[in-house]
Amino acid sequence: MNHRLLTIERPSIRPATQDDTNAISLLEEASFNDPYPSYFLSELARDNPETFLVLTLNNEIVAYGVVDHWEDHDHLISIAVRPDSRRRGFGEALLVELENRLSKERPVRLEVRQGNLAAIELYSKRGFTKTGVAEGYYGDGENAITMEKTFVKEVLVDC
Ligand SMILES: CC(C)(COP(=O)(O)OP(=O)(O)OC[C@H]1O[C@@H](n2cnc3c(N)ncnc32)[C@H](O)[C@@H]1OP(=O)(O)O)[C@@H](O)C(=O)NCCC(=O)NCCS
Repeated sequence: MNHRLLTIERPSIRPATQDDTNAISLLEEASFNDPYPSYFLSELARDNPETFLVLTLNNEIVAYGVVDHWEDHDHLISIAVRPDSRRRGFGEALLVELENRLSKERPVRLEVRQGNLAAIELYSKRGFTKTGVAEGYYGDGENAITMEKTFVKEVLVDC
């Protein structure tokens, strides 16, 4: 009799380490025409130990996302899901976990290509709103849409 082990893919999210840089670079190259160089991704991971996250399936990295802390706001630098793993909720799960790790005392901002409808839909679904257009922002001349999300702080009032 043949016994087969059923492997169940369980997504898991964790902070990136320097050892992940190669896998993240491959994912970056599969996702963008103008990928970030690996040294930049490595620096971002070093500088953002809480908010540079990878999503793994069976220990394989299939998505990553990073928020950098800028002077007056948090900035979503990038989020990407491997092409064969899209539309399975991984991008949204990463974004939710990134948000959970922010102080929420200041806004999160981002730029996204005007033609990147999938990403714009994802950000809109998560409550980001359009704040402007940066003309010719990308190297190939495409405009960026700038978006922002602010968090409502609960205030306890004595009654
Ligand atoms: C944008 C991206 C990260 C979305 O990741 P994903 O895992 O496929 O998205 P999810 O399955 O989590 O979808 C969450 C929501 O995003 C939106 N969305 C995602 N892909 C979409 C698509 N192709 N068309 C329209 N809406 C889409 C939907 O609102 C979706 O919610 P729904 O499933 O209830 O309809 C992914 O398409 C990607 O890696 N793109 C290439 C890299 C990139 O452009 N990153 C953004 C840089 S600013």
